[in-house]
Amino acid sequence: MSNILIHISGSISAYKACSLASALKKQGHEVQCTATKGALHFIGPASIEGITGRPLLTDVFAGGETGYIPHISLSQQWADLILVYPASANVINRLAAGLSDDLFGAIFLANNFNKPLRIAPAMNSQMLLHPATQESLKKLEGWGCSILPSDEGLMACGTKGPGRLLEPLDVAARIEEFL
Ligand SMILES: Cc1cc2nc3c(=O)[nH]c(=O)nc-3n(C[C@H](O)[C@H](O)[C@H](O)COP(=O)(O)O)c2cc1C
Repeated sequence: MSNILIHISGSISAYKACSLASALKKQGHEVQCTATKGALHFIGPASIEGITGRPLLTDVFAGGETGYIPHISLSQQWADLILVYPASANVINRLAAGLSDDLFGAIFLANNFNKPLRIAPAMNSQMLLHPATQESLKKLEGWGCSILPSDEGLMACGTKGPGRLLEPLDVAARIEEFL
C-alpha cells in the first residue's frame, strides 16, 4: 500500500481523475488530490473528497495556523509517488519554468527527486505539439520526471490526433506494475 498524490489540472478530461483515484483506492492505496483553480471549473471537490476520504487541496496556505505546510509535507514525507493527471499545457509549461506560485508548483520544487513523478499530458494536439510544450516536456524528462504517452483519437474539442489523456485504468495498471 502506497501514498499516491494526484495533481489535477484544468483539462476537459479532469473527470477521469475521479476514476483513477477510485481505481487506486480499490488497489489499496491512499490517495490525496490537489487541483489547480482551473480544474475546479471541470470537477467539484465533493467527488474527489468522497472517493479519497481526504480534502481536495488547492491552496499553498491550506495549513493556516496549524503549522502544517502542505507542499513540504506532501512532497518530502507523505507521498510515495506523485502523478499529474491530467496535465494541462499550462501546468507542464509552468512546472518547466520552475514557478511555485501555486500549491503544486511548490510541491514540485520541494520534491527532492526521491519521489517518482509521472506526468500524463492531456490537451489539443496543437497545444501538445507546440515547441513550448515539447521543450517543457523534454526539460521535465531531463529532470527525472516520467512523461506518460498520450493516446491518439477523437478529443472533446473535435480534433483527432495526439494529446488524448491516457485512460484511468491504463494508468492504474502501470502504477500497480511499477509499485
Ligand atoms: C472546455 C475547455 C476545455 C479545456 N481543455 C483543456 C485541455 O484538455 N488541456 C489543456 O491544456 N487546456 C485545456 N483548456 C484550457 C485550460 O483550462 C486553461 O489553459 C487553464 O488556464 C489551464 O490552467 P490549469 O491547468 O493551471 O488550471 C480547456 C479550456 C476549456 C474552456
